[in-house]
Amino acid sequence: MQTIITKNQAEMSAKAAELIIEQVKAKPDSVLALPTGKTPQLVYAKLVEAFQQGRVSFAGVKTFNLDEYVGMCRTCADSFYVYMKQHLYDHVDIRPENIFLLDGAASNLDDECANYERDIKEVGGVDLAILGIGRDGHIGFCEPGMSFDSRTIVVNLDESTRQANADDLVELKEVPAQAITMGLATIFKSRQIILLASGEHKAAIVAKALEGEVSEQVPASILQTHPQTTVILDEAAASQLKAS
Ligand code: PGA
Repeated sequence: MQTIITKNQAEMSAKAAELIIEQVKAKPDSVLALPTGKTPQLVYAKLVEAFQQGRVSFAGVKTFNLDEYVGMCRTCADSFYVYMKQHLYDHVDIRPENIFLLDGAASNLDDECANYERDIKEVGGVDLAILGIGRDGHIGFCEPGMSFDSRTIVVNLDESTRQANADDLVELKEVPAQAITMGLATIFKSRQIILLASGEHKAAIVAKALEGEVSEQVPASILQTHPQTTVILDEAAASQLKAS
């Protein structure tokens, strides 16, 4: 695991965007796993900027989002599909048929999970996964206690996660109680992973995930054992690391 500490969120985002662009240039048909939330917003803005400058094309890229709320229709204001459209898809040349997202409103969620795993397998697996980290150590929506062997699955969201995400809501009054998420084994199989964190409020969990015991109680700690993970932090998020 390589850790890069940047001055602030803008620098963290610029660094992450450069690594993504490098990946896409090296392999134009790259398969990316992508997050939502506050952390990656500026990363997507940088990717859009690079596309507009003609520095990168997403025409061959396939994307798989990490997660979605259960019950959420694709075009609902709070769906991660709408988030992705607003932040990335509407502004770059990615092909609609190359965009894969979990359908939280699917009538059979078990089938939805199995189909997602099949789709990921069929495209040859994820080349690069971009991850944020929740204050409880979750990646995707893999909450503490979830098995490191888990595949795409329906989960109950922790109360802290529901509270943390509440201020992102556009239409809903409260965050749904359940989500559908790539499992930890699904994420771990990605050939390359970038974990992002910025801000003081992430410092404690970043230290625990990167320097503490590898434990299913801290889902992100699984990344300590991944062969190709780059962690990009800003100074505030890195402030409780012993090694910084
Ligand atoms: P955030 O969420 O980027 O909104 O802080 C991170 C996460 O929950 O993975």
